[in-house]
Amino acid sequence: LDSLKYLKFERVGAGNDVALITLNRPQALNALCRELMVELSDLVLKIDSDSSFKVIVLTGSEKAFAAGADIKQMSELEFTDLLTGSYFQSWDTISKIRKPIIAAVNGFALGGGTELALMCDIVYAGEKAIFGQPEVTIGTIPGLGGTQRWPRFANKSVAMEVCLTGDKFNAVEAKTIGLVSKIFPVAELVQETIKLADRIAKNSPIIVQTVKKSVNLAYETTLAQGLQSEQHLFQQTFATNDRKEGMKSFAEKRQPNWTSS
Ligand code: CAA
Repeated sequence: LDSLKYLKFERVGAGNDVALITLNRPQALNALCRELMVELSDLVLKIDSDSSFKVIVLTGSEKAFAAGADIKQMSELEFTDLLTGSYFQSWDTISKIRKPIIAAVNGFALGGGTELALMCDIVYAGEKAIFGQPEVTIGTIPGLGGTQRWPRFANKSVAMEVCLTGDKFNAVEAKTIGLVSKIFPVAELVQETIKLADRIAKNSPIIVQTVKKSVNLAYETTLAQGLQSEQHLFQQTFATNDRKEGMKSFAEKRQPNWTSS
């Protein structure tokens, strides 16, 4: 962790079990260069397999969450570099982890920055957040899932408008569209997001991961398949001690004592 160059990492939260990752490349407004994304991917995987962490919060600075992929780095690349190289290889890690990850977006979240937020499970925004998919204005298309996640999270008209124009939009519009669930004053955003992480962290980690898995199925499968998988996951919770403890503690009118087993 001492070797982090583009990220800051802190253990926070009421139970000291929330991982706060801060994108820290201020001179480029947290543009997502290859090295930053490798660092982020490695760190997130480490946290995901460390049981002392329950939830991850990902944020940037007050000026920028992330101003997108690094355009200066990308401008040097050829088609064959993308085909044979590892440039975008580690970019999807965040969408594959088991623990909940919450984006706290202040300032610019453009291109890959918006897509990074779309990969997270929950997005909170500061009042001055600015989102957008400007790739079309620089001769390319969203390459971190934007064209696929937008139609799943908003309607087709919104998805097309966002991706075809490259127009920027603010936090209130992002909330109306459904990208963001809550908006806070800039200076309070990170603390409010940690409070949300704390509320999630109070639940059994094994059950929280099952909830996340089940909700994510809705974006991958038909309703019939999703409902069937939900049944299986619901049944699986009955094989856990935490399910027994949860229901017992309710009957005994006390707080549950989770063992994540
Ligand atoms: N890549 C590389 N460097 C970037 C960058 C990016 N995406 N965004 C900002 N920077 C750099 C600037 O070049 C500048 O560096 P210098 O001082 O060395 O010139 C520094 O960050 C500060 O930026 P600005 O001076 O431009 O700051 P501003 O406040 O005037 O403007 C901004 C802020 C509107 C966010 C503007 O920087 C901007 O439009 N950035 C690019 C946004 C963009 O198009 N992102 C999409 C990238 S493509 C993509 O993400 C592809 C994909 O899906 C995989």
